Amino acid sequence: MALISVKNLVKEYKTYDRREGLSGAFLDLFKRDYKTLRAVDDISFDIERGEMVGYIGANGAGKSTTIKMLCGVLYPTSGNIVIDGRVPVVDREAHVRNIGAVFGQRSQLWWDLAAGESLRLLGRIYGVERSEFDARMAEFEDVLKLKDFLKTPTRKLSLGQKMRCELAASLIHNPKIVFLDEPTIGLDVAVKQSIRDFVKRINQERGVTVILTTHDLRDIEELCSRVFIIDKGKQVFDGTLDKLREKATDFAQLTFTLTHEFQKDWTPEGLPQTGVQWKAKGAGLTAILSKTAPPRTDVIRAVLDTFGAEIEDIKIDEPGIEHIVSKIYEGTN
Ligand SMILES: Nc1ncnc2c1ncn2[C@@H]1O[C@H](COP(=O)(O)OP(=O)(O)OP(=O)(O)O)[C@@H](O)[C@H]1O
Ligand SMILES: [Mg+2]
Repeated sequence: MALISVKNLVKEYKTYDRREGLSGAFLDLFKRDYKTLRAVDDISFDIERGEMVGYIGANGAGKSTTIKMLCGVLYPTSGNIVIDGRVPVVDREAHVRNIGAVFGQRSQLWWDLAAGESLRLLGRIYGVERSEFDARMAEFEDVLKLKDFLKTPTRKLSLGQKMRCELAASLIHNPKIVFLDEPTIGLDVAVKQSIRDFVKRINQERGVTVILTTHDLRDIEELCSRVFIIDKGKQVFDGTLDKLREKATDFAQLTFTLTHEFQKDWTPEGLPQTGVQWKAKGAGLTAILSKTAPPRTDVIRAVLDTFGAEIEDIKIDEPGIEHIVSKIYEGTN
């Protein structure tokens, strides 16, 4: 059986619109117009031991809701989750020993304690042996460069320092699985990189299974070979990063800038038409190439043949993952 098995998972939130003003608040006490919001809508996936999976989707897609259910802090409305043979919300205590979690928007450290003390306390709570704790701390201190601020209270740490401590905290009990919900949010490039390096390391050296949500697709490109995309609660893609990239070849875009403006009635006569969509606006000419288009170089050559010295600039947009993902969102909306 897969390490993580999710079947037909659904989470509905019951919400209501607050009425305006004081009298509205008073009325709300007696009668509320409840609405149900399906934040996670029939999701299924299996994750094997040692996988690193990127869980992505637009704001409000249902990522955090899914992660909270996987962690056992939220009850699913329906469907099943089995992680390492346990149902998270049922076998919560044993489950929690098996997992680590970082919620980029929340902290698991004690605000007033020195960061190092928080880590020590967490180690005690999880019953980590002293020698084991020391060895692990030594490694984390080294890789995450924690030394300079372990004596600083959490509330005085910078965001990047805090996040590095959060990561250490999530792994202090040597869990098999970590859930990282936006661990790189708001961090500078250097700290992001050190976090990625660390995650890579714990995956490769300890075989920790990683589920990562992020809006920074670099994180995904660097860490995850598999991507799961969710949109408005529904799963829209589950596959390899390569498979996702393949879709990208559909969207190559060439932009030419000319020395003069196009006539309103311009048509792409003499230029390749199959699989190419031409747009002329002002002095700009854009070619959007789909899979059936001729090779890029042929398209460029045709434009050069047609316009020659009138071309001032050529720009080639390699569609990033971000572009493909937004295409996938659009496609499902
Ligand atoms: N406790 C709650 N009560 C009611 N609705 C909620 C609650 N938590 C989340 N939601 C709603 O559920 C939907 C999914 O939210 P969720 O936090 O899972 O999204 P997300 O994919 O993590 O988004 P983001 O990228 O912004 O973090 C949203 O529409 C959100 O408003
Ligand atoms: Mg979220």
